[in-house]
Amino acid sequence: MKFFVDTAEVDEIAQLNDLGMCDGVTTNPSLILKSGRDILEVTKEIAGMVAGPVSAEVVALKADDMIAEGRKLAKIADNIAVKVPLTWDGLKTCKVLSEEGTMVNVTLCFSANQALLAAKAGATFISPFIGRLDDINLDGLDVIEEIRTIYDNYGFDTQILAASIRSVNHAKDCAMIGADVMTAPPAIIKKMADHVLTDKGLDAFMKDWAKTGQKIL
Ligand code: E4P
Repeated sequence: MKFFVDTAEVDEIAQLNDLGMCDGVTTNPSLILKSGRDILEVTKEIAGMVAGPVSAEVVALKADDMIAEGRKLAKIADNIAVKVPLTWDGLKTCKVLSEEGTMVNVTLCFSANQALLAAKAGATFISPFIGRLDDINLDGLDVIEEIRTIYDNYGFDTQILAASIRSVNHAKDCAMIGADVMTAPPAIIKKMADHVLTDKGLDAFMKDWAKTGQKIL
């Protein structure tokens, strides 16, 4: 499973990128607001830092305007994936930009039927939002599972980009189901390394090592 980092904070991206834990980046208008940066500037900086796809989201609501915004964002760098919402205007934009050879990430997906439409519109990525489904007492992971089955049934090559990841268990469950990519906040990716028994075991080894009086270097 590929890891995309869900943030517009360049320092956090750089840290995970250096560790080989960043196969791409996703941003959205809320993350741009949080970063306090200009969208064009920060997207260019991020796209120059990572080799993989960097999602930048359009903010227009009508297809013609979305297409114009998408073309402008796509010009920033070769690894830009234009993010469009799962509306009919977004799907139309997806079809046009995909046919022009631009990667498109269809976002705000909450059902398998929406994901089916995005695949037919030529999406490179579909972003089902797990956490926001869980927030309203639906099961986000069920939706990922349904999309996996549908895409495999018909050989769609749209990649399932599990989004709105809120816990390390979400990450593990997405990998078990076979999501192609997950996008998670840096804190979740870092937390995946934590285990209380690792800490306890290391502590015991360090204490015993000190008692040997030996050195490796
Ligand atoms: C990423 O593409 C999404 O915009 C993001 O994962 C949404 O996460 P949230 O539901 O925690 O805001």
